[in-house]
Amino acid sequence: MRTPLVAANWKMHMPVAPAVKLVGEMKAALRDLRGVEVVICPPATALAAVGQALAGTPYLLGGQTMHWEPQGAYTGEVSAPMLVDVGCRAVLLGHSERRLYFGETDEAVGRKVRAAFAHGLVPIVCVGESLEERQAGSADGVIARQVRAAVQGVAPQEFPRLVIAYEPVWAIGTGQTATGTEANRVAGLIRRLLADSGAAGAAEIRILYGGSVKPDNIREFLEQPEIDGALVGGASLDARAFAAIVRAAAEAGR
Ligand code: PGA
Repeated sequence: MRTPLVAANWKMHMPVAPAVKLVGEMKAALRDLRGVEVVICPPATALAAVGQALAGTPYLLGGQTMHWEPQGAYTGEVSAPMLVDVGCRAVLLGHSERRLYFGETDEAVGRKVRAAFAHGLVPIVCVGESLEERQAGSADGVIARQVRAAVQGVAPQEFPRLVIAYEPVWAIGTGQTATGTEANRVAGLIRRLLADSGAAGAAEIRILYGGSVKPDNIREFLEQPEIDGALVGGASLDARAFAAIVRAAAEAGR
């Protein structure tokens, strides 16, 4: 049985002081709830402080992006060893905002996934189609391309640690969500693609849904057999809302 996972993507929000305050509120709201994995992905400037605030809890620290090289002349970037250095255990890779605004290609995402594994980070790889792609009937093809590129060259024994987040771009920050049934269908497609890509343990890989997840819609996704949790943006900036989502995931895992 796959342990549910809920990841918080704070995006470009939260200077250090409010970030630490939010972690304090989340800790109080969750009280070391078990049976669910929680990953908090603050902006790079708050990683160290949030990592300290999470010390002693079961919740993991994650980066929002990284470069594939371990070091070098890449102004503005952070590397996998640097994320590990401040206490990260996971990293979001290939978020649609990175793909759209920062030109992150499928090939770059693949390099980053391999680098994350090489440095012991759990890659949480985001895939998803745009509205135009969905309307054109090419959603499945886009997802297949993104998934195949992301896992190219990943060793079979690494696959069980991989996490994939299906985030339809048109559902991110819009208040619109995919239906539970459709998200489940796409998650099933992703799992088959992973098995075809050499993941002997494809059944162990966690697949999350993301895109306007809130406390009042999370159950629709958690009750789907192929969906193992959520990647949460906006609602993760509110301790009570995020805690309600995490609690629902813990209940779903029982
Ligand atoms: P949202 O963002 O929950 O605000 O839609 C999700 C994401 O971008 O990961």
